[in-house]
Amino acid sequence: MKVLSGIQPTGRPHWGNYFGAIRQYIALQKEEQSFYFIANLHALTTIRDGEQLRKNSIDTALDLLALGLDPSHATLFVQSDIPEIPELCWLLMSGTPMGLLERCVSYKDKIAKGLPIVTGLFTYPVLQAADILAYDSEVVPVGADQVQHVEVCRDIAQAFNHNYGEVFVLPKPKVLDNSAKVPGTDGEKMSKSYGNYIEIFEDVKSMKKKIMRIATDSRPMEEPKEPDSDHLFQLFSLFADDNSKSEMAALYRAGGFGYGEVKKALAEAADSYFAAARERRAELESNLDQVKQILGDGAATARKKAAEVLARAKAACGV
Ligand code: ADP
Ligand code: TRP
Repeated sequence: MKVLSGIQPTGRPHWGNYFGAIRQYIALQKEEQSFYFIANLHALTTIRDGEQLRKNSIDTALDLLALGLDPSHATLFVQSDIPEIPELCWLLMSGTPMGLLERCVSYKDKIAKGLPIVTGLFTYPVLQAADILAYDSEVVPVGADQVQHVEVCRDIAQAFNHNYGEVFVLPKPKVLDNSAKVPGTDGEKMSKSYGNYIEIFEDVKSMKKKIMRIATDSRPMEEPKEPDSDHLFQLFSLFADDNSKSEMAALYRAGGFGYGEVKKALAEAADSYFAAARERRAELESNLDQVKQILGDGAATARKKAAEVLARAKAACGV
């Protein structure tokens, strides 16, 4: 199976991003072809500071490598290192109906929020289609919010194939399992935009502080509680093994304990869960040349494939 996914370098990843997305991308890295890239061209529509974007892009690479993305299985690269992508994007754009893009929810949402509308925001799904089609990708693991973009990609590829012959492989979205939405410190869905998140690589002290401030109900200690409906328990479950989970669930049901104990256990579990990744990240950070080498090698592999597909597309459409 040929797998591909892209991550925008727009900020520091949090627990929700890890359990809802990153962990699942990494789980697919041993497939026949697995390409993961840092979508810095897509991020241009939101990050308007060159230094910031450069830093975020490297940070995202460090995050992925530290969390287990293994360059001996997966190809990791930065989108802008593949100049074939914007070229393919133009070929695709020339045959993409306006109406297809006008229906895209992420564009409509941004307009509804009154954000400034740049052309790149509107044509964003075509660039994403180029990302996917350039490597003959078959499966695209994405969060539910990105499924529409993969479907638009299929429509664009189908239109091209219909006109010029079988040039592109039609990809399928693989919806990531975030049915168990990771709750934030206020009990709502953890999200960058709600300010209720805990970063994966947050400083340990600050992580503990945020955990201690997690909102809880005010039932008396003696009262037995149902663990499954409690967001603190849900968070603890992400990090705990089955044994510790059942022990904690039994404590909830017996009553007579304080949420402070659960918070302490959560802090310890989260700290040790990410300890190895934290260490790897620090190591990589002091070895940036090695990271740049990984990204350079990844780009070379990806470009080879993209050049092949682009040549096919250009030959078909007569340029
Ligand atoms: P945010 O809401 O913080 O801006 P994004 O929309 O950038 O997060 O999400 C990136 C990926 O992480 C998506 O695939 C999304 O489904 C996943 N994700 C984000 N927050 C959560 C969460 N609280 N629980 C599960 N998955 C999440
Ligand atoms: N648009 C995706 C996001 O915001 C990132 C992305 C860009 C992507 N190109 C892609 C995802 C190609 C999958 C495939 O999350």
